[in-house]
Amino acid sequence: MKSPFLFGRTVSAEGFTNRVKEIKRLKANFIHQVNTILISPRRWGKSSLVKKVSDEVKSRAIRIVQIDLLGIRSEEEFYKVLATETIKATGNRLEEWLHACKTFFKHITPKISVGSNPVEDFEISFEWHEIEKNYKEILQLPEMIAAAKKIRIIICIDEFQNLAVFREPLLFQKRLRSEWQHQQRVNYCLYGSQHHMMMELFERQSMPFYKFGDVMYLSRIDRAEWISFIVDKFRETGKKIDAAHAESIAQTVQDHSYYVQQLSHIVWLNTEKVATTEILENSVNDLLEQNAILYTRDTEELSTNQLLFLKAIAEGVHKGLSSIKTIEKYRFGTSANVLKIKHALMKKELIEERGGNVYFIDPVYELWFRKFVI
Ligand SMILES: Nc1ncnc2c1ncn2[C@@H]1O[C@H](COP(=O)(O)OP(=O)(O)OP(=O)(O)O)[C@@H](O)[C@H]1O
Ligand SMILES: [Mg+2]
Repeated sequence: MKSPFLFGRTVSAEGFTNRVKEIKRLKANFIHQVNTILISPRRWGKSSLVKKVSDEVKSRAIRIVQIDLLGIRSEEEFYKVLATETIKATGNRLEEWLHACKTFFKHITPKISVGSNPVEDFEISFEWHEIEKNYKEILQLPEMIAAAKKIRIIICIDEFQNLAVFREPLLFQKRLRSEWQHQQRVNYCLYGSQHHMMMELFERQSMPFYKFGDVMYLSRIDRAEWISFIVDKFRETGKKIDAAHAESIAQTVQDHSYYVQQLSHIVWLNTEKVATTEILENSVNDLLEQNAILYTRDTEELSTNQLLFLKAIAEGVHKGLSSIKTIEKYRFGTSANVLKIKHALMKKELIEERGGNVYFIDPVYELWFRKFVI
């Protein structure tokens, strides 16, 4: 029997639970042509949510173009992927794609490569000196295709914060924004993690993408939802877990989507018929062990002060870290120093600030840290 718990890839059908409110809101945005910005910490379920809603909305009249910025290192590469994916998503066969290449490019000559498997190996690329002058033609391509085919297009761009690695990120954002804002048939859903960077891109008045659309902060999936999800999945696969143990799984990992699935998976594997407290405890140890290499590496890269800062948080100091008492206790030196340490840890994505309090971002790293570092 296969494990009913999935992690490490997007889930959209059986593995997916709840998010009823978010599905409704995102779906309404897709249907009513509102641009969306979706932000959450790593592994809470952005990609899964967008996939789920895309699957529900896509039709002959509404096409979805999916782009992941994670592997894209330059503006040039972005144009290549945007053109390729748009043409693929708006036509059904190779002939249609080739026809689109002939029809829609006026000032640019696309280079087309087709491999043995056209669906996988179809790719358009450009000479940089041509797009440097005519990049607008590529940014306008989706709108032109949509108008010609009388369809709508929703372009979903994952890991959007990754544009920071481009040579001139600000100029690039200005280019996108100035074209995108005029488009009638094309909408955008931009999503990513790294809270501080996404906030910077979308919440600062001076930035090109300020007030570009509906900014959604994904929240955790409710505890009650996880409990019934876990209990049901065990039952469906001929095993048993009671609500209290299911709750304990969700609570241990603070309702973090990825870790709830991972820990549930381990408990499920360790359970022959009925999950027990002992099985749960062993499973938590397995979980820590499976993640230990990563956590050890992250921890080795910390300065002494950063370690002490995490120690303070792990010991329950979530606010007032620059108070005289705390500075003395943990020997941070000055309050300016505390600020510096905090920013460094935020940049490393180890901590986050919520309502003036500081927390670990990764709940399992926190568990591991408490157990093995302090
Ligand atoms: N609605 C959901 N129901 C059940 N599990 C979910 C749900 N959303 C996410 N998960 C779990 O969390 C994992 C991470 O989800 P996903 O990749 O969608 O998150 P993400 O926010 O896009 O992550 P990343 O920061 O890595 O891009 C999934 O593999 C799955 O195990
Ligand atoms: Mg993702």
